[in-house]
Amino acid sequence: MTQVIYTIEEWRTKYEEIKQLKGSRIGFVPTMGYLHDGHLSLACEAKQNADVVVMSIFINPLQFGPEEDYEQYPRDLERDVEQADRVGVDYIFAPSVEEMYPTKPKTTVKIQEITERLCGASRPGHFDGVGTVVSKLFHIIQPDTAYFGQKDAQQVAVIQQMVQDLNFPVHIVTCPTFREDDGLAMSSRNVYLKEKDRQEAVVLFEALQRVKTLMLEGERDVKTLLDEAQDVVSQAPSADIDYIHIYRYPSLEDISYIDTDVIVALAVRIGGTRLIDNMIVEVVGKEVSFRV
Ligand code: PAF
Repeated sequence: MTQVIYTIEEWRTKYEEIKQLKGSRIGFVPTMGYLHDGHLSLACEAKQNADVVVMSIFINPLQFGPEEDYEQYPRDLERDVEQADRVGVDYIFAPSVEEMYPTKPKTTVKIQEITERLCGASRPGHFDGVGTVVSKLFHIIQPDTAYFGQKDAQQVAVIQQMVQDLNFPVHIVTCPTFREDDGLAMSSRNVYLKEKDRQEAVVLFEALQRVKTLMLEGERDVKTLLDEAQDVVSQAPSADIDYIHIYRYPSLEDISYIDTDVIVALAVRIGGTRLIDNMIVEVVGKEVSFRV
């Protein structure tokens, strides 16, 4: 049975018990709740590789801008606990905002350069909030391994950079994006989509597929690929493109001709709901492989 832990003190006691069992490895899945199969796949991966699986459910106010959806973000802890239990999560850490931030933090984590593009450019301060909360969660939970989804590829790059720069003793594992049958990447925010928007939302995946097809045919010019992706997205009447970019991955540096690993990333508002998706392209000589 999944046990829900609400305070840092309670977890610290539990942690001491766990660590007395020699060699117990803790696998950690940080989430903001309203779980879907993508989150559960991270927990399954953790289950296969760790002795104890901990999932956090915390909607972190620090990573939302003033005009963003912090208040509306979907919440249902009871349902989340049932779902986590089904896949064998041992503990859910579900602190209150007061528990995590008893006072406004004067210490925050700022990751530079790779946060200046893509979602970092569209959502100023977002990755400072992510870095700060993930750093706190790593200090509290003290996991051996933490699992993140490729859907948030920039977030993974940012966290990997933070772990490297600040010497966190945590191994980061990236798991594939989980998709609906038509290709839409699973996200807790998909619940905002009205029926017509839900149908149009598939254009993000279709744009990535278009780039993949062209690259398989040998196209490597970034502008050509981006124009094609833009054409695909523009076919959805409600689509409002925030960005479509191709950068080197994971450094997120500019590139105009693809001869190395890149990320194709896009953020599009569909009927007001901001959706993101991406594809990592691994390039070795003339060979390309795709993680989408
Ligand atoms: O990916 C998310 O759900 C959040 O950004 C995370 C990593 C749990 C930090 O709040």
